Amino acid sequence: MQSDVHWDSEEFRKDSEEQLDIRFVEAFVRLIQMARIHKESNRLVSETADEFLYAGRGLLEESSVLAVESRHSRLFIQGERLLFKKQSAVAILSLLSYISRLGVYGFEFNTQLNEISREQAYQFAVDILEALRYPHPLEWLDQRLDSEEYQWVSIIYSLRQSRSEISSAEKAEMVHQLYSCSYNAIQEVSEKLSKNQSAGIRKPLRVVQDITDLVFVDKSMLMGSMTIRDYDSYTFTHSVNVAIQAICLGHELGLSRQSLVRLGICGLFHDLGKVDIPLEIINKPDSLTESEFRVVKRHSMNSVRRLIKLEATPNLLAGIILPPFEHHLRYDLEGYPEVGWSRKLSFFGRIIQICDVYDALTSSRTYRSTPLSPDRAIGMMLQESGGAFDPVLLKWFVNMHGVLPVGTVVELNTGKLGIVSHGGDLRERLLPSVLLLERRGEEFERGETIDLNQHLGRDGRKAMKVHSTHHPSEFGIQPFLYFMEA
Ligand SMILES: [Fe+2]
Ligand SMILES: [Fe+2]
Repeated sequence: MQSDVHWDSEEFRKDSEEQLDIRFVEAFVRLIQMARIHKESNRLVSETADEFLYAGRGLLEESSVLAVESRHSRLFIQGERLLFKKQSAVAILSLLSYISRLGVYGFEFNTQLNEISREQAYQFAVDILEALRYPHPLEWLDQRLDSEEYQWVSIIYSLRQSRSEISSAEKAEMVHQLYSCSYNAIQEVSEKLSKNQSAGIRKPLRVVQDITDLVFVDKSMLMGSMTIRDYDSYTFTHSVNVAIQAICLGHELGLSRQSLVRLGICGLFHDLGKVDIPLEIINKPDSLTESEFRVVKRHSMNSVRRLIKLEATPNLLAGIILPPFEHHLRYDLEGYPEVGWSRKLSFFGRIIQICDVYDALTSSRTYRSTPLSPDRAIGMMLQESGGAFDPVLLKWFVNMHGVLPVGTVVELNTGKLGIVSHGGDLRERLLPSVLLLERRGEEFERGETIDLNQHLGRDGRKAMKVHSTHHPSEFGIQPFLYFMEA
């Protein structure tokens, strides 16, 4: 069937070049994401394929070729770099992630795009997903696009022109956006459930997929976003943090994208059962009474009860129920709810449990005003390795955070204060990078970023050393804001 995209040049003139660029990228990403779950007969798929063709044909009106390229982690359309804007940043990074995972540098569409049907556009998205199932996606896709029906698109195999990388500030801005979307997604579901309304899983699934795409682009920045915490509800920021940590740890362990998404959903929903705990108990500043603690202990089971009522496919639900049930059980099966079996916790359950405890230790709670600095939290967890935590997974977790976790505030031997912006590498014995803070009265301003490995004294030894570590709250600062400044 031929696409019934109605081409109206008047209408086209109303669209700026930039809007068409973004519309094309967004439609391209959406089409790939939809091809994962919907058949081509689905109405949304048809609309998205039409949008993809509409924007692509609009861009081709000015040129005989439409090139979509990745150059050093930036996306270029017709040789022009697309800027990260609030609305489009996630789509741009998602497309960059697909391009990178395929092992290509991009795609070139020619004027035969004007002739293809929406089914052919959909099939292209299906083939991109199919290619990603193979160990060498490029080989498979290369052969596939060699066929008659793909005269309208070709692969860009090499880097055409190099430019500088995405600035850290741009990435940070984009991660901040995603953090806030994730917070809203879990808040919306929880509020609906507490009003006994039905809630779907589409929005949470979308944000978790976006987080997963990002982990392939800049894991360090994503881990740093745990320090954002500038929202009202501890439970929701905690849920987002656990989802992010779990996806990062799963990525470190080499899990597939599909597994990472499932793990992220488990993280986001692990405390869903807290909607059943009265607020007086949740916000109580003092220690809980025995009966109040009994109420709190029910939330793992309540998370399961709430989860199975969400509007989602039985298949997806079946894959995300166990870890929320297990998240307060220790590796040695102590903890709650009491279980009468000796079967090991599930793999995802052990991951969520580590991420849950780490975030709880490093955050301010009503009953503990001083949170632990990230390195002290890790030190404390290491003492429980093999008892509370799976020792192998904990080791991976510690290695992932490096010598010092991103966002830790450090005082150097020079007296300067800074924020860890890259954790270093325990295995390679590489020290962290630190973003220095310059005191201006009561405030701190962003200074230069220094790599502690590079600062050697006359004797060849490291001249700058970390003297002490602190939690950002001790200085009233929010590390992620400093990452976002250009
Ligand atoms: Fe919990
Ligand atoms: Fe939790």
